[in-house]
Amino acid sequence: MILLIDFSEFREEIPAVKEFVYLNHAAVSPTPIFALMESFRYIYGISSKGSLHANVIENDDLLSLRETVSKFINSSPNEISFVPNTSYGINMIVHGLRLNRGDLILTNNLEFPATVYPLYKLTQRGIKVKMIKSGPAELESSIYNEITDDVKLVVISHVSFNTGVKLNVKRIAEKAKRVGSLVLVDSIQSAGAMKIDVKEMNVDFLVSGGYKWLMSPQGSGFMFVREGLIEDPPFYGWKTSSSFMDFDPERFSLEKGPRRFEIGTVDVSSNLALCKVIERLTPLREDVERRILELSAHAIDEAEDKGLEVVTPKEARAGIVVVKVNEPKKIAEKLLARKIVVSPRGAGIRLSSHFYNTEEEISKAISGIREALT
Ligand SMILES: Cc1ncc(COP(=O)(O)O)c(C=O)c1O
Repeated sequence: MILLIDFSEFREEIPAVKEFVYLNHAAVSPTPIFALMESFRYIYGISSKGSLHANVIENDDLLSLRETVSKFINSSPNEISFVPNTSYGINMIVHGLRLNRGDLILTNNLEFPATVYPLYKLTQRGIKVKMIKSGPAELESSIYNEITDDVKLVVISHVSFNTGVKLNVKRIAEKAKRVGSLVLVDSIQSAGAMKIDVKEMNVDFLVSGGYKWLMSPQGSGFMFVREGLIEDPPFYGWKTSSSFMDFDPERFSLEKGPRRFEIGTVDVSSNLALCKVIERLTPLREDVERRILELSAHAIDEAEDKGLEVVTPKEARAGIVVVKVNEPKKIAEKLLARKIVVSPRGAGIRLSSHFYNTEEEISKAISGIREALT
């Protein structure tokens, strides 16, 4: 395989690869040193200058950070709010939508609980949630076929955490728009791995924690809310007020900008690191995606060559490949004893390789699975 771009410089920034074959980016990614330093610089600034340093970073209302994220997903900076995790963003959106009794939300059985549990809370208000039951290969068509006139919201992950299947979100959104439904995408398993363009995908909401494929500290993350939707968030905090710097508990005026969803103090140091990673990845987005797809194809081919069953459909893959095994936890432990880091998920072992991994590392992991089974 000839690499068009040399990713070895980036790899040098990842301490974990010196000790492990690290194929667990769908769980938690190692933070690159350059991103860690960005967080450290901020925290050290607070250490040495306290509020004086915090004010310097925050006095533009994090606009430069919002711009960095917005370029990455092709939105406006006004549509980007920072969130402490994906669950927070999904809750903000589904409660902010003010759905009515009898309204129907579509989701499916291959979602991560963080994507679905917020919907269960809505059922207490008479909102209906339809759980589509499907295997990975038919997931996209199953969702597509269930989008009927009474659907008000479709909630999907771009890439499924336990099967690795990647949905053609644009196709789903096109049908949703035809029936007047909104679309919410959990992109934590794709952002940083697959190119995201919210305009092209035609989605209304997108939420992503930063600690997986975006390789940033836990506590970083962002959400995109299309302009004009959810002007009045479901929860208020001091930063939801446009006059928050007056510190007047008796005067509140609803903030119109994206800070309205942040409600209180944002994890600045983690999001500074996130934006550093995004700055590095933005010009490489297409190469990163292409390389990840090469590596996941290699994992699928190698597993099948060794007689293993692969859960992930090759034609709809992203960065996750799930290899079917009995007793996945035991197998993952055996791999860890050989310093190969993967996760037991769904029906097997989940390999999740980022762009700086190598074919050799993947081959090692697949051989490890094969040997652990005998
Ligand atoms: C699809 C998906 N959504 C969300 C999460 C995590 O949610 P949070 O960022 O709220 O911890 C995961 C974690 O594995 C996930 O796979």
